Amino acid sequence: MKTRMLRDIEVSEVGMGCMAFSHGYGSIPDERYSIEAIRGAYEAGCTFFDTAEVYGPNLARSQRGHNERIVGKALADVRDDVVIATKLFLDPGIGSPYKRIRKHLEASMDRLQTDFVDLYYLHRMASTPVEDVAEAMGQLIDEGLIGGWGLSQVGVDTISRAQAVTPLSAVQNIYSMVERDVEDEVIPYCAGHRIGLVAFSPVASGLLSGKVKSTAQFERVDDVRTWVPQLSERNLAANRPLVEMLEDFAATKGCTPAQLSLAWMLAKWDNVVPIPGSKNKGRILENLGAAEVELTADELTELEGALDSITIYGHRGFTR
Ligand SMILES: NC(=O)c1ccc[n+]([C@@H]2O[C@H](COP(=O)([O-])OP(=O)(O)OC[C@H]3O[C@@H](n4cnc5c(N)ncnc54)[C@H](OP(=O)(O)O)[C@@H]3O)[C@@H](O)[C@H]2O)c1
Repeated sequence: MKTRMLRDIEVSEVGMGCMAFSHGYGSIPDERYSIEAIRGAYEAGCTFFDTAEVYGPNLARSQRGHNERIVGKALADVRDDVVIATKLFLDPGIGSPYKRIRKHLEASMDRLQTDFVDLYYLHRMASTPVEDVAEAMGQLIDEGLIGGWGLSQVGVDTISRAQAVTPLSAVQNIYSMVERDVEDEVIPYCAGHRIGLVAFSPVASGLLSGKVKSTAQFERVDDVRTWVPQLSERNLAANRPLVEMLEDFAATKGCTPAQLSLAWMLAKWDNVVPIPGSKNKGRILENLGAAEVELTADELTELEGALDSITIYGHRGFTR
């Protein structure tokens, strides 16, 4: 697969979000299945895998690291060939930000079976000033414990303050055809500073695949789709024109709607890398196949025009 740069970190053009093997989309698959699915993605050319310390059943503290353990096991013997990104939450606590962050990092490295994390994100801003986090991350880079660092769900003000202390490799924000806030300032800023924009929930939790027909499909336990605004029963119906436009456009391109939605962001921006998530081995490969879907400049213009003419119902936003 073609690659892109997140500052100095080279990753496959489409990465893989591993969260659903532990949290967020209902029942958790058998560990062996999840490991095979991750290996399947690697064998199909994916070299960029996204996890977080909190990804565990119901985000319970006692289940922290569930996902990192699976990712670590799946990739242990190809560790040098892949980029692993993980994230921490920084609670207020005793000790310098460096000491507190390092403690989280060491626990993550242990679970990931590695002595190096390629890309380490702060999952959400909290009470610690971003400058202090940036300084600590810079120290971890100097010590060779992480390859680069990033922030998640942040705006340009926070990014630029952090960037002034230790340049970022990536910002991971929500971005899809129905969540385009980052197009105004965040992506252009990142593009101008060699920062990758890693797009999470890039197929809008399944909406853009056209496969979500009713909320009855969702599971009731630990399933984000029960509150994702575009997926309420009413908004699913209201967003049908978007889905139908995608289905028609994708048919003319000989691809699927999910692939088209990923190819769209790849065609629009050189610094964007989507990390779709799925528990389904076939769909994981389908999403990686988006890297093969080339949109001409005319097709991109036509798609943009169609998107601009359709009202989107429901919004999550990047400051959430
Ligand atoms: N930084 C953050 O705060 C943050 C927040 C959320 C997520 N993330 C990361 O971003 C990754 C992706 O986000 P996400 O999983 O929330 O959203 P997503 O990739 O937009 O959507 C995942 C959902 O869409 C369905 N889906 C995916 N591809 C499909 C396809 N080709 N056809 C039909 N359905 C498809 C999946 O169902 P099936 O499983 O049935 O295929 C699943 O229900 C996560 O794994 C995680 O690593 C980060």
